[in-house]
Amino acid sequence: MTDLVLPSETNPLNNLFGGELLARMDRAASIAARRHSRRITVTASVNHVAFNRSIPLGSVVTVEAAISRTFRTSMEVFIDVWIEDRFSGERDKANEAIYTFVAVDDTGIPTEVPPLEPETELEKQRYEAALRRKQLSLVLAGKMKPADATELKALFLES
Ligand SMILES: CC(C)(COP(=O)(O)OP(=O)(O)OC[C@H]1O[C@@H](n2cnc3c(N)ncnc32)[C@H](O)[C@@H]1OP(=O)(O)O)[C@@H](O)C(=O)NCCC(=O)NCCS
Repeated sequence: MTDLVLPSETNPLNNLFGGELLARMDRAASIAARRHSRRITVTASVNHVAFNRSIPLGSVVTVEAAISRTFRTSMEVFIDVWIEDRFSGERDKANEAIYTFVAVDDTGIPTEVPPLEPETELEKQRYEAALRRKQLSLVLAGKMKPADATELKALFLES
């Protein structure tokens, strides 16, 4: 999704307001999740957001969302945010985020999603790490016991 930063969307420093960027990322991620699952999808959690660079008023901002891994009913969505240079047209990475979406039926009950096969090196890296991010998110939400987060524990034992 590509769009401009307008004055009503900025903070007192004339940079894009964080909540506006979160909303844009949520919309793009929702479209990616819906296209993959062909279901109604809802945001289950925002697992990670890094506001690495501010985005000035007037910028052309592109929000790219892609499913990085599917589980039974949930999908991890990676979002990369780019700003376009006004003169060269080149894109610079500004921010990134990881959201979790769940496919639901018409009554809001979680429903299965199709699997996903990573192809590029980046897709494979994101796919591999997705399970431990899911476990971390569930532990933080109080939906999984830390003792059951085997993939997450392995990360700490490795390092
Ligand atoms: C998201 C929602 C459907 C999950 O419902 P639930 O009763 O927890 O259902 P389940 O326990 O079966 O979980 C469904 C999936 O979500 C995953 N999930 C739930 N909470 C999660 C979290 N905090 N982080 C990561 N994954 C989560 C579960 O692991 C499960 O994934 P899987 O089937 O792929 O293994 C439900 O909480 C909901 O409708 N929330 C409101 C969504 C919404 O309105 N979003 C917009 C913000 S206002």
